[in-house]
Parts: sequence; structure tokens; C-alpha cells
Amino acid sequence: MQFSRIPLLLSLLHSAVAEQPSAPSPISAPLRELPWAAGGLNFLHTTDTHGWHGGHLQEPQYSADWGDYISFAHHLRKRADDDGSDLLLIDTGDRVEGNGLYDASNPKGKYTFDIFSQQQIDVITSGNHELYLSNTSNREYQEVVPDFKDSYIASNLDIYSPKDGKIVPLAPRYRKFMTKNQGIRILAFGFLFNFHGNSNNTVVQLVQETVKEQWFKDAIHERDIDLFLVAGHVPVRDSQEFDLIYKAIRDVHWDTPIVFFGGHTHIRDFRRYEKKAYGIESGRYMETLGFLSVSGLSTGKKGDVVAEASPKCERLYIDNNLYSLHHHSNTKESTFDTEIGRNVSKAINDARSKLKLDHTYGCAPQDYWLNRAAYPANDSLLTLLDKQIIPDSFSDTKRPSIVVTNSGAMRFDIFKGPFTIDTTFLVSPFTSSFRLLKDVPYGAASQVLQLLNNEGPILLEDMVALAGADEHMPRLADLMPLLPPVGLHTLQRNTRTAALVQGSAPQWQLPLTAGDADKPLVPGYTTTDDAGSDGDDTIHQAIQFYDVPNCIGADIGFSPTSVAGKPETVDLVYNEFIQDWVLLALRYLGQTYEKADTREALEGKTMTDVISEWVHGHWGCEE
Ligand SMILES: *[C@@H]1O[C@H](CO)[C@@H](O)[C@H](O)[C@H]1NC(C)=O
Ligand SMILES: *[C@@H]1O[C@H](CO)[C@@H](O)[C@H](O)[C@H]1NC(C)=O
Ligand SMILES: *[C@@H]1O[C@H](CO)[C@@H](O)[C@H](O)[C@H]1NC(C)=O
Ligand SMILES: *[C@@H]1O[C@H](CO)[C@@H](O)[C@H](O)[C@H]1NC(C)=O
Repeated sequence: MQFSRIPLLLSLLHSAVAEQPSAPSPISAPLRELPWAAGGLNFLHTTDTHGWHGGHLQEPQYSADWGDYISFAHHLRKRADDDGSDLLLIDTGDRVEGNGLYDASNPKGKYTFDIFSQQQIDVITSGNHELYLSNTSNREYQEVVPDFKDSYIASNLDIYSPKDGKIVPLAPRYRKFMTKNQGIRILAFGFLFNFHGNSNNTVVQLVQETVKEQWFKDAIHERDIDLFLVAGHVPVRDSQEFDLIYKAIRDVHWDTPIVFFGGHTHIRDFRRYEKKAYGIESGRYMETLGFLSVSGLSTGKKGDVVAEASPKCERLYIDNNLYSLHHHSNTKESTFDTEIGRNVSKAINDARSKLKLDHTYGCAPQDYWLNRAAYPANDSLLTLLDKQIIPDSFSDTKRPSIVVTNSGAMRFDIFKGPFTIDTTFLVSPFTSSFRLLKDVPYGAASQVLQLLNNEGPILLEDMVALAGADEHMPRLADLMPLLPPVGLHTLQRNTRTAALVQGSAPQWQLPLTAGDADKPLVPGYTTTDDAGSDGDDTIHQAIQFYDVPNCIGADIGFSPTSVAGKPETVDLVYNEFIQDWVLLALRYLGQTYEKADTREALEGKTMTDVISEWVHGHWGCEE
């Protein structure tokens, strides 16, 4: 891959560009070139955007918005038309939950659907977050699917129609189409992993069942296909779902090229299945625009000739900022914006104002990291939660209590500076409240946290197995914290090793000076995947990520080490999301409780409420 030296750009003033007015300007960094396939097939891929369509307003490196993405795609589409190649756009779900732009409106998503649908997307699927609440999946069915009528694919997802209660596919099962310029004949599927946490108005079919369905068999027996395209809210690595689909296709077509577009684990990753099958996963939260190119495919226009050589498949993970987007589209500030892109950026800004997302609750005195600090530590968000926010929020509790929450309920870091309405949704968007079990024997209650963190006398898997078959059994994956947003290789190498460079966000964008030109100074992704370690468009300084426990806990109103001793019983409080796990752990500890034994705690406040109230009460802003 080529390496280009970009002229230095030391603009410190924010200039008039389409991204959000309060977005920080990107700063130059050395970039790798887009591996564009002239005369081939090119893709842009987004996944797990979680409502961040306004971009990152506290991180220059990811500060472009959905309107900028629309302008960017326009320029690449034009390039494809000019050189006779093709460009397709893919989105693999989890577009909702995780940002005030989506979560702060009533109903949720009031503004985002119109913003999102301005982009032309060729294949789009649902993630698990579209399905937790019936309202969300109903709106998906009634608004998003019609917005993307030819492109939305639901290979293993049905919905009880809100109109007549009949069960129907959320969207067509597959899509067969031919690319505009090359005439490449594509058969596309859209899958969701074997997800069980959905509301009861949708039905997710297990992938192992879907591949046995007649429609699927008929589809993969189609002839004259140049490329199978499998988009899915499914990780590209270590996923039985994509492996099953890969095998099903290969059983019928031993060498038709296949590309997978995955998601869900929030990482950048590229997998080589074999010389004609590849998969890409493109990160999270609008930080990454994944680019993939495939050259050497057969096409309908060239007749039914099978391409001789193996196709060449290359990838680039584009940091979503204007500096990168201008560069890869060969534009500059004055030529980049399209009218529709600018309109969408304006619509985002208008929505943010209406929702008062910049309203400040207080100012964070320092950065608090979810994965970029060890746990426990002074700069760990989880430590802030279990040492300060939770104890303070439950301080009115009259009785000794143990409060347990899963770290997966926390989604993002807190940066030093204003903590706004938007920040509360970035940090914890979930609507589930706290539940309470009264008078639980201390001996059992005090071991729940250990068990949930797999540090008890029995492994979680074994606990589930011992409990016996029950379709309501909680799944391990529901309890696990999100992986840090790095590729698998990087994670394995870095986990629990000594701390590396620690750049605090506001200092991320150190401008390069001439003497530093060979030193990559912008901390960020340093991905290693099956194609090597040259996949990130921006040459970054590595960031250290740490493992965090599944759950954290706090003792309220007593200290297990004090002279007063341990209480005989405590109230056990937990966030509702982990209720099944808590009940299972208690059962293993000899205390059987049912859901009916649980009651509301903190008057139904959610984690979002708890955090925002605490910030309001504790973090002032100095003038
Ligand atoms: C679902 O949508 C309906 C109609 O918009 C609304 O009345 C109801 O409060 C919503 N339910 C939830 C849980 O948001
Ligand atoms: C889903 O659950 C609700 C509440 O428990 C129930 O009223 C409704 O009939 C269920 N819907 C379906 C499709 O099973
Ligand atoms: C952009 O917005 C203007 C003003 O609302 C409108 O007149 C125009 O049609 C929009 N352009 C596009 C391409 O949507
Ligand atoms: C963490 O905070 C404690 C209490 O304020 C302090 O004593 C300690 O020095 C801090 N540690 C670091 C590494 O800042």
C-alpha cells in the first residue's frame, strides 16, 4: 500500500465547512492511500453508528458528520462513473441507541430517520439494537424499510406487523442486482446473529435454520452470480453464523467470490477466509468509514466467463474527519460539500439545537476512560461509578445494600470539559432501571459480583449448564462488556500489559511540525488484521486498551471490613438488564428468587438519570 506525505495543515481556526459548527477541526496526519479498484468494485461500509450521525464533537479525529459522508460518497460515486468502476454502500445495523441525536427525542429517532435516509445505501440490515423495544422495530418496519425499499434485507428476521398482527419478513430475504457500470451480478443477503434479547414483536431465526430454508437454497443455487455479498450484524471473526453461511454457499459454488460485511463487536477487522472470500468489519460510532475494493471479478457484460485469477481484495479504515475525506476524494474545502450533504449537516445541527444537546449539566474535571484506563484507577470511568456516583446516588438508602451493575451499561468515555445532555446518552443510553431484592442473606449477596465476573468457585458457563435447559436462560454474551474497539490481534497482544502512551483526548490532535513528520503523533487505531497492519488510513500512535470486569459493585451503608461487622442481610440492587444473571447466581448460591420477588429501586430512575443528576450536583463549571 502506498504511503503519501501530506502537506502540513496547521489551521487552528475553525473554518466554514459542513461538519457540525461546534466540531473541532481535524489536523493533518500522514495518510495511507485508498486502494481504489479502477475497473473493479468498491465499497464504503458503516456499522454500529448508534446515532452518532452528528460525528464526534469532542474528538477531532472523528468529527465529520453524516452530511459529510453523503458528500464523500458522492465524489467516490462520480469517480466510479468516470473510470468505469462501481461503488456500493453498505450499512450493517445498530444505527440507534447511544447518542442524544437519536435517544433524546420523543419518540426516539424523531430526527435521525430523515437524516440517515438521505444517503443512498445499496445493502442495509438490522442490528440487535433495532429490536430491543417494540417501538424501535415497528418504526424500522414502517419507516426505515420503506426509505430503503430495494436495499433493506432481512434474511433471518420477521416482525408481527403493527397493522394486522400477522408475522411477515421485516424486509425482503435477499437481493439480486447488477452493478451500474461493470455489470457485476450480485446476490446479497442480510443477516443478524442468533440474537435472543429482542422484544416479542420480532422473531430472529437461528442462522442454522435459515440456511435450511427452501428460499435460501434456491437463492444460493442461482446461476450467473459473480459475487455473493453477505451483509450482517455479525462479527467477521469467530462467528458460527458467518461460517455457516460461508459453508452453505461453498457447498454449492466452490469458487464464486464472497464478501462479508460484519459488525456488532465495534472493532476494525478484515478476515481472509480463503483466496476468494473476505470479510470486513468497520468499527463503531461513526469513527470509521470502512473501504473495501475487489478487482478481477467476472461480470455479466463480459459474458459468462469466469474470471481466471483470484480477485484481489483490499481494505482501508478511514478515520471519519474532513482531512481524510478531502484527501481520499481528491477535493478540498471549497469543492467538497454537495448541496444535499450540506443540507443534512444543517438538519443535524437544527435537531441538536431543538434537543438542546449542548445544554451543560456540569464540567468533568478530567478524562474518565472506559477501556483506556486500567480498572480500578483514578481515571477509570468504572471506578468513578462504583466509588462515587453509585454510593452518592444510593446514600439515602436506609438499609445496608449491595449495588451491582454491568460494565456493558457504560458505552463511552467522559472527556474533561462540558458534560452535556448529549454526553449522558453517549455514556449510558439505556432505558432499563434498577431493581431490588430485599433482605438477601449477606453470604449469598456478597458473592454475586464475584460469580458474575467469573471469579467465583464456578464458571458462568457451568452455572448456566447446571441450571438446566430453559429458553429464558441468560446468555453469556449479554453480560460481557463490549470489547475495546480494537482488532482481535491488537487486543490479545495488549491486554493487561504495561500502560503505553496515554494521550488525553483534547491533546490528540497535536499538529505535526516539520521535524516530527516521520513520527505519527495522533493517537488512534493501530489495527492488525489478516492483511497486515497497514489498514488504518491515518498512521496513528497506538493507544493502550484494558480489559474490564463484566460487572462492578458497591457496598452501601456498611463496610465489610469494619469492626461493626457484616450485616446479616442486605438489599441487593442491580440494573434490570442483568436480572436473569443475578437470579441465576443467587440460585447457585442456594437462594431462590423469582422475578415477582423483585421491586423497583430509586423510583425507576435509569442509569442515564443517575449519572446526569450526579454530575449536576457534583461537577461545577469554572467561569
Ligand atoms: C411506544 O410508542 C407509542 C406511540 O408512539 C407511545 O405511546 C409509547 O409510549 C411508546 N412506548 C415506549 C416504551 O416508548
Ligand atoms: C408480547 O408480550 C405482550 C406483553 O406481555 C403481549 O401483550 C403481546 O400479546 C405479546 N405479543 C406477541 C406477538 O406475542
Ligand atoms: C436543500 O435545502 C434547500 C432549502 O431547504 C432546498 O431548497 C433544497 O431543495 C435542498 N436540496 C437538496 C438536494 O435536498
Ligand atoms: C488517586 O486518588 C487518590 C485519592 O484522591 C490519591 O491519593 C492518589 O494519589 C491518586 N492516584 C493517582 C495515580 O493519581
